[in-house]
Amino acid sequence: MTAYKEDFHLASGHYLLSHSVGRMLKTAQTDFVEQFMLPWQQQNQEPWQQWLGGIERFTAILAELLHSEARLFCPQTNLSSGLTKWAMSLPESGIRKVRVLMSEQDFPSMGFALQNALDNIDIVYIPESLNMHDPAVWQQYIDDKIDWVFVSHVYSNSGQQAPVSQIIHYAKQHGCRTIVDIAQSLSVLPINLSEWDADCVIGSCVKWSCAGPGAGFIWVNKTILPYCEPKDVGWFSHQNPFEFDIHHFEPNESALRFWGGTPSVAPYIYAGHSLGYFAAVGVKAVREHNFGLLTKLQAALPEFYRSPIQEDTCSGTAILDFGPYHDEIKARLKRASIAVDNRRYGIRVSPHVYNDQEDIEALVEVVKNG
Ligand SMILES: Cc1ncc(COP(=O)(O)O)c(C=O)c1O
Repeated sequence: MTAYKEDFHLASGHYLLSHSVGRMLKTAQTDFVEQFMLPWQQQNQEPWQQWLGGIERFTAILAELLHSEARLFCPQTNLSSGLTKWAMSLPESGIRKVRVLMSEQDFPSMGFALQNALDNIDIVYIPESLNMHDPAVWQQYIDDKIDWVFVSHVYSNSGQQAPVSQIIHYAKQHGCRTIVDIAQSLSVLPINLSEWDADCVIGSCVKWSCAGPGAGFIWVNKTILPYCEPKDVGWFSHQNPFEFDIHHFEPNESALRFWGGTPSVAPYIYAGHSLGYFAAVGVKAVREHNFGLLTKLQAALPEFYRSPIQEDTCSGTAILDFGPYHDEIKARLKRASIAVDNRRYGIRVSPHVYNDQEDIEALVEVVKNG
């Protein structure tokens, strides 16, 4: 797996921040010039045909990676925007109170989006102290009074992985809709959207997919798609964008009804290229490599290791809590050019395909011996 290290731009030091921004592929720049710039530079035509082809490549590869259909994906700038659009599009929104279950560990932006998307919303938060990888916790909170269940596949501050299939199963038993956030799991944990059968999935490609910011997306279950009426629309949401009749709007039959006006293109060119790379490597292989390095880290520093250690409950990120030594060790890591960050429960360490045993050993050495 270390051969993959050569495929990425890595500066000197040890980069362990893939939960934040994944490194850029060396081939991305040439691909971007070919797919985005050359059609614009060289032909006496508008480049939309090639640009839209780049977006189709993006949704096609997402469909391959996530085991679904390209027509169920729609580009979105980020997760917050996708979530807002989805929440506002549902038949019950604006008609009655909607009670949503989410966790205090969810990324705050997800709460902000939901609180503001609907006037009549009641959010029930699962307390931060509870284990989000424990199915019993979800079972306890999901009941007939809940309308929607929001799940993060991965909670990046605690390194926990939610049991998404089981949660969706409980939710269905109580007639709840389900929304899954895959920001922190795409391209590092295997995901099968057809098996999950959630109502909506939102994600982006800036983290483990190494594709830079701006290439978010929404996936909508085909059974509920016909009932979704997005409020934030534009000509690219129309079934036939080139009809140009201001009196006639027909939502696209695919998830593109969530698209909007003239789309941005550049982020999806990068993302299509990068996702293609991970589809070729195989997410299973990425996870094996990631889990192997997490296991080594846990074996070397068990006294500081706070995130789960089982493969089905841990995410791609390890959380290390140094207690009273936190500031000192953080400063030492910085001096040694070991790029990590810290959140509420400790330091976050995310080994990707471009990391190897040497990166983990360097970190362990700094922690143990300064
Ligand atoms: C779990 C999770 N969800 C969502 C986001 C980001 O959401 P958005 O794309 O709206 O900025 C992050 C960013 O770190 C995240 O970790």
